[in-house]
Amino acid sequence: MNSPAAPKTFHVKSFGCQMNVYDGARMSELLEAEGLSAADSADADLVVLNTCHIREKAAEKVYSDIGRLIKREDGSKPIIAVAGCVAQAEGAEIARRAPSVGVVVGPQAYHRLPELVAKAAGGATAVDTDMPAEPKFKALPGRRRQGPTAFLTVQEGCDKFCTYCVVPYTRGAEVSRPWSQVMDEARALIDMGAKEITLLGQNVNAWEDDGRGLHDLIAAMDKLPGLERIRYTTSHPNDMAEGLIRAHGEVEKLMPFLHLPVQSGSDRILKAMNRSHTTESYLRVIERVRAARPDIALSGDFIVGFPGETDEDFEATLRIVEATRYAQAYSFKYSPRPGTPAATMDDQVPAEVADERLQRLQALINAQQLAFNQATVGRRTNVLLERRGKHPGQLIGKSPWLQSIHLETEAAIGDLVEVDILSAGPNSLGGAEAVKQAA
Ligand code: 5AD
Ligand code: SF4
Repeated sequence: MNSPAAPKTFHVKSFGCQMNVYDGARMSELLEAEGLSAADSADADLVVLNTCHIREKAAEKVYSDIGRLIKREDGSKPIIAVAGCVAQAEGAEIARRAPSVGVVVGPQAYHRLPELVAKAAGGATAVDTDMPAEPKFKALPGRRRQGPTAFLTVQEGCDKFCTYCVVPYTRGAEVSRPWSQVMDEARALIDMGAKEITLLGQNVNAWEDDGRGLHDLIAAMDKLPGLERIRYTTSHPNDMAEGLIRAHGEVEKLMPFLHLPVQSGSDRILKAMNRSHTTESYLRVIERVRAARPDIALSGDFIVGFPGETDEDFEATLRIVEATRYAQAYSFKYSPRPGTPAATMDDQVPAEVADERLQRLQALINAQQLAFNQATVGRRTNVLLERRGKHPGQLIGKSPWLQSIHLETEAAIGDLVEVDILSAGPNSLGGAEAVKQAA
């Protein structure tokens, strides 16, 4: 068999969550530090597919992508590396099913990507799905490229074992990165132009170091010069500590936005999901957060069609959505994941029932999202400009409530500008730069 030469160019394609986006950026930085340069997926010598295993559809994408990659018009064959949660869950099985794959590397082992790629370039199949989290961060090179908004992983893994979820198996146990490591990375990101940092973790609000919690970290970041905005995601309702709730009313740079998944509005289903909170305890947290920060935008995740979910259970989900009034929310049809307890539960819900429920839930969520957006029309707010829009002179940025706002402006990407919100749709807003009053 011909072995591919050592790659000179690479392309990283990330699927799934924001942590994968972060991991993808760090893999790119690592490969750049090794002297490779970025290229399109159509002609890169090395293509890294940074995969998601959360639902079946996400996992299946890997194989269709591999199929496309090996049918290049010019006949060239890239080294294909499968990274991320599918790599962790399926390991060497991936290379058996798709022999064109040269590297399989899990989320806790990607700091070893260069050696694995070298092995693959020598003709071997290199598989590394080791789990220890800490060595990865120590081994990675410093941060390099960065725009105005940056992700920063502070916590990884999950000990909660919700019965539907693969994350505890693919990302491993809950691990918090140490305080000083996180602060150093934040400073480096700010030096490279980051105005907004989103702290990431599968259970980000469970972050801790020597008795200090996420709110202490947020308070310390609030004091970093040059940083304008702090966000964090994703949180578990049981880990919403008093200090964190209070921070929403006290810390100026902490944005008024909270993604707090509840998954279902039925206590019976929450129990079967092993969520370890109730609808009542969830609503109480929401109430306290709103008391601390009345204008907070709330976001959530929902699963419909969990095994045993009745019409009544589903109606209860609609009711908790109505009670919470979300600014946005994600909803998914339950997808049995191999190896999780729910996959073998009785009473799997027929697909057509789950589909119908998903449609009803999404219609309600969309209506709430539109209502939230419409309620901000007429407000003057700051917007962090992130990217260019479709029209000449148009830029797109985010409001404090994480809404996308389109505006014509002479300001530059990375600027924080005052904007009057003029119009609202379900997914974005239109605005105009506020006319500055003469002093
Ligand atoms: N099926 C459907 N949705 C799921 N999620 C997690 N596991 C599954 C599954 N097996 C959803 C949850 C979680 C979000 C990231 O994905 O709502 O909060
Ligand atoms: Fe996908 Fe979850 Fe893994 Fe993120 S942590 S890549 S969402 S399975």
